[in-house]
Amino acid sequence: MQEESTVKDSIFRIGRVISVDGRSIRVTVDKSKNSSHLLYKGDLIKNVSVGSYIKIIKGFTIIIGKVEGEYTIEDKVYSTKEYSSDKEKISRSLNISLLGFFSGKEFERGIKEMPLIDNECYLLDRDEFNKVHDFIRKDDEPLSIGTLTLEKGQEILVGIDCMFASHIGIFGNTGSGKSYTLAKLYRELFKKYGDNPNFIKNAKFFLIDFNGEYVDEDDNVIIDKEYKNIYKLSTKGNGDKYPVSSEALYEPSFWSVILEATEKTQTPFIRRALSNSFLAEKLNDNASMLELIKSKLILALDKNDKELGSKVIIDFLSDIENSLPNSNVSLVRDRLRENLQYYNQGNEFVYIEPESGNWKWKADMRSYVSNDLNAIDISLVSLNSLDKLRLQIVIQYYDDIIKGHANREHLSPLIKRMEKRFEDIRKVIDINDSVSLSKNITVVSLKDVNIHMRKILPLLLCKQLYDEQKARNDETSYLNIIVDEAHNILSRNSDRESEQWKDYRLETFEEIIKEGRKFGVFLTIASQRPSDISATIISQLHNYFLHRLINNNDILAVEKTISYLDKLSFEYLPILPTGTCILAGLAAQVPVVIDIGKIEDKYEPNNKTRGLIKNWV
Ligand SMILES: Nc1ncnc2c1ncn2[C@@H]1O[C@H](COP(=O)(O)OP(=O)(O)OP(=O)(O)O)[C@@H](O)[C@H]1O
Ligand SMILES: [Mg+2]
Repeated sequence: MQEESTVKDSIFRIGRVISVDGRSIRVTVDKSKNSSHLLYKGDLIKNVSVGSYIKIIKGFTIIIGKVEGEYTIEDKVYSTKEYSSDKEKISRSLNISLLGFFSGKEFERGIKEMPLIDNECYLLDRDEFNKVHDFIRKDDEPLSIGTLTLEKGQEILVGIDCMFASHIGIFGNTGSGKSYTLAKLYRELFKKYGDNPNFIKNAKFFLIDFNGEYVDEDDNVIIDKEYKNIYKLSTKGNGDKYPVSSEALYEPSFWSVILEATEKTQTPFIRRALSNSFLAEKLNDNASMLELIKSKLILALDKNDKELGSKVIIDFLSDIENSLPNSNVSLVRDRLRENLQYYNQGNEFVYIEPESGNWKWKADMRSYVSNDLNAIDISLVSLNSLDKLRLQIVIQYYDDIIKGHANREHLSPLIKRMEKRFEDIRKVIDINDSVSLSKNITVVSLKDVNIHMRKILPLLLCKQLYDEQKARNDETSYLNIIVDEAHNILSRNSDRESEQWKDYRLETFEEIIKEGRKFGVFLTIASQRPSDISATIISQLHNYFLHRLINNNDILAVEKTISYLDKLSFEYLPILPTGTCILAGLAAQVPVVIDIGKIEDKYEPNNKTRGLIKNWV
């Protein structure tokens, strides 16, 4: 026995520590160990090379390190005669970075003790190698996601708790396999738990798909369609509508963003409008609404303001008409447009009686106008929350400008934009306080949504989900928000964006990243451009799948913010093949290069790289 372990030690020993400089260790390799493979008990064992692991024995402590580089040094001291061959003149040395240590039988990440000079270094045997790659904590469940690239056949299992109770980042250039990795990760999870009643009850998954990669005719991507709610939204019409609660809708910052409100005047106006509960109350009752509208119009007459003239009255009626399509407001408006004028010389309104053409002034004018206004008939019954909200903004606007609280030039661009934006919103959302998502996995495709709504909708939806989950305050419930192509909403340096938009997004996503864990909310983001995404977000992720990254800025962004990665792994980044990535973070004790496992064809994301030739011959 003793003999056997001595033999093993002598075969596995590869050298000794020659310098310890901060965290970087140098090891000189025994001259007899310069071959690429070693033979032990009939097995061929790979000798040390860049990327492999070694153990350093310091008394009873076993420290594990990774080879980051190797160098040769020529011995010049002795004359060549003393060497039996030229090969022996060369001494080989390795640069090692420390990864962790064995405590008892378990491998632990981190450094408790530094090696000493002359400590002996060994290759890891199979058992030790497996332990270093055993990422599953005691109470965790394993999930297989792929195999080690450098050690074919070595399966990589991650702990489900460790992986899914964390924020995950998947980065890589286009075509490097991000979407595939994302799909694989969740496919394995859903395969394992998808049918469990408690999983369905307690865990929610919400996937935002910008390019329609997770929906197709069959809708079976990742998991069979029976398990998912699928919303294919479209601003071109004929898409699905996503249910949004009216509470989420009355969020002033959301409207500031949608309507591109300016910070100084338009945003405070929106806040004022949405918080006007007096007005909101009136919107529930035809008669009081009608009274309110009439009183505003009469007020405009009484103000007798030359700047506003009769135009403000006509515009007000037109905007009411736009918000209340089933009313007869347009008739009254047309009548007033014909007959009511502002007489500049006299600085007062005049009403021209249509039948006789007589000009009516003052009290007469008032009674003619009142008469016309009394013909207005509106009905609020068919209005949904969205229509009411719009009407609320419109009435607040006219109230403000008639009373002189706000300047027309400042606010009118906002009111003009409203029409188009409400049209878009109406096509993609359905205001509904009673409908909740029926299944626990939801996929929202934004492929056919215009560029403006693409940015805003995900925020609205995520914020609503997050707020709901926060309010639930239930230890067992879990929400995972998954965003592929996350640069669409998280990129930080776009000049076209207003500060408001940035703030709103900051509030939403950075809060989820920072505080989500407390409420059981986790984020998975995939993106081509890590350099575009705010460093706060990238640095707070817990687990990273890093695919091929070529651009230097992207590599730097990753390098700056991800503390889990060693130097060598960074060197790999630009040369990783498609489907291979570095897994680093809490779920992996050591960063590993892995080949992501295959997904059955039926469940693959809808993103085949296009072949051209077959269409050209
Ligand atoms: N692990 C893998 N095994 C087999 N095929 C893969 C694997 N990873 C990626 N692929 C294939 O490579 C192609 C590109 O992958 P994918 O669409 O996931 O890249 P991406 O990084 O998401 O690209 P983009 O940024 O353009 O969305 C796809 O055809 C996909 O099927
Ligand atoms: Mg993709």
